[in-house]
Amino acid sequence: MHYSDFKLATTKTLLARAMRGGYAVPAFNFYNLETLSAILDAANITQSPVILAVSETALEYMGDKLLMGMIHGATYKKNQIALHLDHGHSFEICKHAINLGFSSVMFDGSTLSLDENIKISRRVSDYAHKFGVSVETELGVLSGKEDKNTKSTNPIYTDPNLVKDFVKQTKTDLLAIAIGTSHGAYKRKTNKETLRFDILKQIADNIPNIPLVLHGASNIPQKYIKNINKFGGDIKNAFGIPPAQIRKAISLHVAKVNVESDSRLAFTSAVREFLYTKKSDFNPRDYLCNAKNEMTKNCINEIQNIMGSGYKI
Ligand code: 13P
Repeated sequence: MHYSDFKLATTKTLLARAMRGGYAVPAFNFYNLETLSAILDAANITQSPVILAVSETALEYMGDKLLMGMIHGATYKKNQIALHLDHGHSFEICKHAINLGFSSVMFDGSTLSLDENIKISRRVSDYAHKFGVSVETELGVLSGKEDKNTKSTNPIYTDPNLVKDFVKQTKTDLLAIAIGTSHGAYKRKTNKETLRFDILKQIADNIPNIPLVLHGASNIPQKYIKNINKFGGDIKNAFGIPPAQIRKAISLHVAKVNVESDSRLAFTSAVREFLYTKKSDFNPRDYLCNAKNEMTKNCINEIQNIMGSGYKI
């Protein structure tokens, strides 16, 4: 299949518009019917372009047929939604996603040597571009770990002096950078630390036409942490990136902002509260529907108050 069969847009197209309009397109991860509909409900309500992000493990979890069947049956605005492989770790998985009908793939060679990263990134671009599919690559290393999609390592900030040549050699359409964000809920010990905007400015000056991508951009809403803990959970010292810092990054050429942990927290908070307070209810549809609605609410909030992408379609 080809992504146009699903009336999907590429990330290159969505992000070019975002850069012109001074906003970012959110990339929200999904892994089942509820999380997919939560994101699409938010996109439809706010009339926002959205990137549906699927990690390698999420792809494995849903299976090719079920995933593409859900996309086929989903309701969304034509040419306003991208289907994106998040953190593909090999040429083969990127090729597989493209052949399924994804409109965008990320090859994550951030933990490889620079030469190896460039070599495989270029191979992915050469294949993807034959089908008009967009490619995201990464230079620099994020710290933190969500699951086995993202390896836990020490962070290495993106070197602004390398980006121009990296983009030229890899033919990447978008570039993920490391400026102090990290994956997962435990990004910071406090919420007072600041992203490296000095590095971001230099990167943006060196590659002004390439949309930049911020991974690990969840703000970890404290209301969800409190609610999870109130209803039997135990999450301590979890802090994210304050919204004001994400908005500043968006003003400096960040056009794609990746969020998964916030959705997980919204979902889990609602499930915990429901099961704790309605002790005799055992219908998964009831608590999953509740959780889906809470995730939609959070996506809407981020679209409107962080990304600035509402009413852009
Ligand atoms: P968070 O863990 O901050 O939500 O980041 C998700 C992400 O970057 C997925 O690629």
